[in-house]
Amino acid sequence: MSIAIRQIHPVFVGEVSGVDISTPLSDGDAAAIEAGMDRYAVLVFHDQELTDEQQMAFSLDFGKLEDARGGNVTKPEDKRLPEGMNDVSNLGQDGAPLDRESRVHLFNLGNLLWHSDSSFRVVPAKYSLLSARVVHPAGGNTEFADMRAAYDELDAAAKAEVEDLICEHSLMYSRGSLGMLDYSDEERKNFRPVRQRLVRTHPVTGRKSLYLASHAGAIVGMTMPEARILLRDLTEHATQRKFVYAHQWRRWDLVMWDNRQVMHRGRRYDQRHPRDMRRTTVAGDAPTAVQVEAA
Ligand SMILES: [Fe+2]
Repeated sequence: MSIAIRQIHPVFVGEVSGVDISTPLSDGDAAAIEAGMDRYAVLVFHDQELTDEQQMAFSLDFGKLEDARGGNVTKPEDKRLPEGMNDVSNLGQDGAPLDRESRVHLFNLGNLLWHSDSSFRVVPAKYSLLSARVVHPAGGNTEFADMRAAYDELDAAAKAEVEDLICEHSLMYSRGSLGMLDYSDEERKNFRPVRQRLVRTHPVTGRKSLYLASHAGAIVGMTMPEARILLRDLTEHATQRKFVYAHQWRRWDLVMWDNRQVMHRGRRYDQRHPRDMRRTTVAGDAPTAVQVEAA
């Protein structure tokens, strides 16, 4: 069995075959996957029956796991999954779908907006790996947009305009756009805006990409309305269908993406049915911009 990657979308996304990621990878396979990530930005693996421990072990081949604290409104005692696993399900600790009016559910709806995982952290995430444990009978696709292709198609004036811009990202901006405006003092502290460059350069390939997310709600040196109009325009450009791949989940798919090169969003589904998706997140290694001291 040897590893192979086949491109399944005109601009990005590779489908990987010939590897069992539940067992330790050879150095050659790990290097082939990392090289595939640099090139395709999203990799799809089918039929990977994983435990949480196996998913974490596979993720560790690509860096350290990100500390998930401060990224949601779920209380520690209400968490369903062990440390190191991000819960992207619609389930509570009892295994049943969350109440539709629960704050955790409402907060999780923010995942249906285009975003890049952890762009609200000073050091944003490198990779995310999402494993489908219980799939929804209909709906619940995850869509990905290639932010390198989107950057490449900006005209020269637009590229010059965005080159040095710094955005402010916060979970309060993405959730605020859904009308969620009430936060505790502790949440306000956790969700304090952080600065990110709008144009990133991939450390291996040198390709530039737009670093957008619904978490971006302001641009340094611009009024907020002007910033938001620009961010909306860029997002509209970047999420044209020609740049988007829609993944229709099968049980035991694992999809891994490079948050530095793509945005993604979940799609709506009927919340009455269980959907159990579990994410591991590989930490990034540096901030993209200089931060300002917190007030
Ligand atoms: Fe996400």
